[in-house]
Amino acid sequence: MHLPSRVHLIDVGPRDGLQNEKQPVPAAVKIELVHRLQAAGLKEIEVTSFVSPKWVPQMADNAEVMAGVARLPGVRYSVLTPNLQGFAAALNSQPDEIVVFGAASEAFSQKNINCSIAQSIERFAPVVQAALAAGVAVRGAMSCTVGCPYEGEVAPERVAYLAGLMKGIGVQRVDVADTIGVGTPRKVQAALEATLQHFALDEVSGHFHDTYGQALANTLAALQMGVWNFQSSVAGLGGCPYAKGATGNVATEDLVYMLHGLGIETGIDLDLLVDAGAFISQALGRPPNSRVATAVLNKRTT
Ligand code: HMG
Ligand code: MG
Repeated sequence: MHLPSRVHLIDVGPRDGLQNEKQPVPAAVKIELVHRLQAAGLKEIEVTSFVSPKWVPQMADNAEVMAGVARLPGVRYSVLTPNLQGFAAALNSQPDEIVVFGAASEAFSQKNINCSIAQSIERFAPVVQAALAAGVAVRGAMSCTVGCPYEGEVAPERVAYLAGLMKGIGVQRVDVADTIGVGTPRKVQAALEATLQHFALDEVSGHFHDTYGQALANTLAALQMGVWNFQSSVAGLGGCPYAKGATGNVATEDLVYMLHGLGIETGIDLDLLVDAGAFISQALGRPPNSRVATAVLNKRTT
């Protein structure tokens, strides 16, 4: 088994993790979470999204959160921007990278961003151009690459089609997302293979929600293909407001524990990461949704 010797993680907890949270989460708490993640060694953090506050009220404090983060050199701070309006607002916050987000399924595209796949690409194209012109990196998130809450199974051809469109408008790297966590290792590999028709291995990351408990297995399957960029959410926070019932991304703590156990470097301090997860979980009034965090916290008290 040839696995990468180093893996790069993007913690999407402050964005994907909190976007669906029903209770108000003060900007100061979000900022503290970002600070704790960077202290734990995360080199990329998805901080917030510049989307309609009517659609996703929890992200309405986007500019305040971005302004409050004391940035560290060498850390990349990214934000979601679905259209030019979002990009213009985001630019004031000086993100290092913006993320346009599309879907491999038509129904999800409609529900999530209120337009077809083709229309979304038309909207993204000027955003990508403007970002690159401003020296801001561009990532593309591809939702529902194995399954859709509205259409069921999604064929790898749909993923290849979307990846080709993303490449065509200048997106620099893409996330292969299992939005509702229904994927199993072979299906996830098929979605990754489809993406690799258009993007190089170094430009592809795995974004696996853990709804059905498959995310670690899917990560290992991706590692076996040489994929070395992954997204995860501290304390397993999250879910997408337009994918009902879907739970959070794989917990960063669980991923880091598995990777370190495989002898793969992440640059992350698991203890500080568990502290970050405990901090946000306490703020939300519930235990972390991470087996590793639970185990580490239990061990500390015994
Ligand atoms: P729309 O209603 O079609 O937009 O929404 P519109 O252009 O017709 O504008 C309607 C109103 O929205 C106007 O305001 C605009 O100003 C405002 P009004 O005149 O009614 O007062 N508006 C905005 N306000 C702030 N920021 C903006 C913006 N754009 C328009 N950027 C839109 C289209 C995309 C805006 C909407 O559908 C939306 O915000 N959707 C958000 C979806 C979202 O955030 N989903 C979760 C993130 S994606 C995800 O979680 C998946 C991922 O994790 C990968 C995976 O797991 O699959 C990435
Ligand atoms: Mg997601």
